[in-house]
Amino acid sequence: MTEKIAIVGGSSGIGEALVKFHIENSLPVIVFTHDPDRVRQNTEANQTLVEVVPLDLQQPLQIEPSLKNALSGESKITRAYIVSGIGDLEENLAPTQISDTLSINCDGLAKAAYIFANYFIQKGSGHLIGITSVASLRGSSAAPLYNASKAYQRILLEGLRCRMRQKHPSVSVTEIRPGFVDTAMMKADKPFWVVSPEKAASQIINIVEAKKEVAYVSRRWRLIGMLLQSLPRWLYSRIG
Ligand SMILES: NC(=O)c1ccc[n+]([C@@H]2O[C@H](COP(=O)([O-])OP(=O)(O)OC[C@H]3O[C@@H](n4cnc5c(N)ncnc54)[C@H](OP(=O)(O)O)[C@@H]3O)[C@@H](O)[C@H]2O)c1
Repeated sequence: MTEKIAIVGGSSGIGEALVKFHIENSLPVIVFTHDPDRVRQNTEANQTLVEVVPLDLQQPLQIEPSLKNALSGESKITRAYIVSGIGDLEENLAPTQISDTLSINCDGLAKAAYIFANYFIQKGSGHLIGITSVASLRGSSAAPLYNASKAYQRILLEGLRCRMRQKHPSVSVTEIRPGFVDTAMMKADKPFWVVSPEKAASQIINIVEAKKEVAYVSRRWRLIGMLLQSLPRWLYSRIG
């Protein structure tokens, strides 16, 4: 049985770099994507190592059948990265933005995480990896929805990790908190400590190999994480 790494959200940015890293190391991947043409184009030279499964996280009824169908195939998935995410600056607090963000970042991640968690439990082992953000730690005046959705992801992954520790210790859960990564997602005015998606991907692989529970990319973002968590509310509300 072929072992494969699953990547949910692999057409661009960090997900694309993760796909590239694996195929460059001859590791077969199964990529769940809302842009299958782009993934096929990106991986043209290594088609035999890449299985592409169309999956639009904004179509809630599609998620379960699409993932379960792929997981019932011949291959054994040993790791699943859930990378997909959207986020925008919110100038107008437009209610129309809410459902898109929640469907991908919250509903989409939760459904995918549950399906992979159950799959790993049934197989007796596996590693689930979610990409959250340093933004998950506090609210944001510029992007309240994005930070709230990332906080949801962080807490959900923590809950799943506790669950696996207590009931299924052979299943691991890792949460990756990137700072700024140079992708379409990065929308800050003055980004700092920016890393390329390729560097982020290689750091993520090292973190996962080491089976860390929670880690920052790059590592020094841990300092910002500690600072964010320690700032009192009265001060944070003026700068956050
Ligand atoms: N860049 C940063 O500074 C940064 C910082 C902290 C956290 N993150 C997190 O890292 C993850 C990857 O983001 P990225 O930086 O690599 O940005 P990106 O290039 O914009 O990638 C976002 C991914 O989300 C997936 N996606 C699913 N549905 C989508 C939709 N309707 N519209 C657009 N994309 C959709 C896409 O994969 P498919 O097309 O394959 O479905 C796409 O590859 C996200 O969860 C993000 O929140 C990024």
